[in-house]
Amino acid sequence: MGDLIGRDRPLAVLLAESRKALSGRGGACFVTGEAGIGKTALVSAVVGSARAAGAAVVVGACWESEEAPDCWPWLQVVRELRPQHRFAQSGFEFYAALRDNVFRLVGEVWTLTFAERSVQVPDSKGLRDLHALLSNPGADISASWLLNPDAPKALGADDVLDDEAKARYRQRLDELESRIDEEPDARKAARLDAERQALLDELRAAAGLGGRTRRLGDTAERARKAVGNRVRDALRRLDDRHPALAAHLRGAVATGSTCRYDPAPGVTWRL
Ligand SMILES: Nc1ncnc2c1ncn2[C@@H]1O[C@H](COP(=O)(O)OP(=O)(O)OP(=O)(O)O)[C@@H](O)[C@H]1O
Ligand SMILES: [Mg+2]
Repeated sequence: MGDLIGRDRPLAVLLAESRKALSGRGGACFVTGEAGIGKTALVSAVVGSARAAGAAVVVGACWESEEAPDCWPWLQVVRELRPQHRFAQSGFEFYAALRDNVFRLVGEVWTLTFAERSVQVPDSKGLRDLHALLSNPGADISASWLLNPDAPKALGADDVLDDEAKARYRQRLDELESRIDEEPDARKAARLDAERQALLDELRAAAGLGGRTRRLGDTAERARKAVGNRVRDALRRLDDRHPALAAHLRGAVATGSTCRYDPAPGVTWRL
């Protein structure tokens, strides 16, 4: 913050109040004025001078937003106070409860809380897929299972891999191979490689039995596409409602023939 020009009188009032607070007599001041008039600049100058005088200053702010977290400015205050003051402990526990990540369906509405921001969004298949993945972090879950959890696991002997499906598999393999080469993130590259391996296994199985094509193919390919699409749809809709959550999920969720949620350590959910 650069130097404040003018504002001598309001500055003097606020500095006097902060000195009173330092001597143990707290109070409240309201700084009002039209947009852009310099409220934040004024208060920042007071904060700077109080800090210079040795005061512990914590700041809580509210921004215009459709879904403000409960007690937004107090969350910020308690969080900043925590390392400094033991008395803030109970406040921190309260804050921690609010901070929990939530991915829960109640009735037909999902409550999604992430990074201290909570939104409610209507049910969708993509959100159900994401919920299944979040419920099994680090596990490979097949797209076929997500598409149809009740279907028997083994595919019928008449599920053949037709030429068109094979061609699509090969195309996907090529695509994966070039992406693996270009992927700088080792974890993501490993995920792509796992998908590549799964595809190769399927192709190999299909080419078995004396060269006669058998099994898989359309079913798995359809599941891969359908689940990929509906997860992408859900994330696209989340972009508006909760950009931080959408970004987190995009980074941590991989979709393909198998799907997987790999969060950074420490990210947990109430599901
Ligand atoms: N007295 C001042 N001297 C120097 N710069 C100032 C002063 N008041 C405001 N500014 C500058 O003008 C711009 C707008 O001020 P500021 O952000 O403090 O306004 P605001 O009242 O907090 O606005 P909003 O209502 O949007 O929150 C900032 O770049 C700030 O640094
Ligand atoms: Mg302001």
